[in-house]
Amino acid sequence: MPIAASPLGTIFSTNITPSKTAGIGQYSEQQFADALRKGVRGDGSQLYPAMPYTAYAKLTDEDVAALYAYFMHGVQPVDVQPEKTALPFPFNLRFSMAAWNCCPRQQTVPARC
Ligand code: HEM
Repeated sequence: MPIAASPLGTIFSTNITPSKTAGIGQYSEQQFADALRKGVRGDGSQLYPAMPYTAYAKLTDEDVAALYAYFMHGVQPVDVQPEKTALPFPFNLRFSMAAWNCCPRQQTVPARC
């Protein structure tokens, strides 16, 4: 599902059902927490800020644990791979989002800068 149609291109949301093949079914709670609070995906790459992780940076461990339990056990897995986001250079380089995280407005995120 397209989330953000920007002048740079369309960013598609990923599948966050607990599907082990197409979703986040393989995510540990720590990986889930890092995606939500730091914008870091399970494979270690940087999420685009279309995923509003700066808004979730102050979730407590208890909040994250409750969300994880819900997403893993309260949501039906859907084994469908969504369309991939393909932005033009340099935005196709996910690590370039680290620069975004270093902007003063994004200080809620523990930036790796
Ligand atoms: C409690 C609510 C939410 C949870 C638990 C959540 C969780 C996640 C996770 C774990 C990922 C990474 C999945 C992966 O590709 O491996 C993700 C990606 C994404 N999320 Fe969220 N999300 C939430 C809310 C939102 C909202 C409100 C939006 C936008 C309105 C959003 C937009 C996106 C987008 C666009 C991506 C893909 C970003 C990219 O490809 O870099 N999410 N989300």
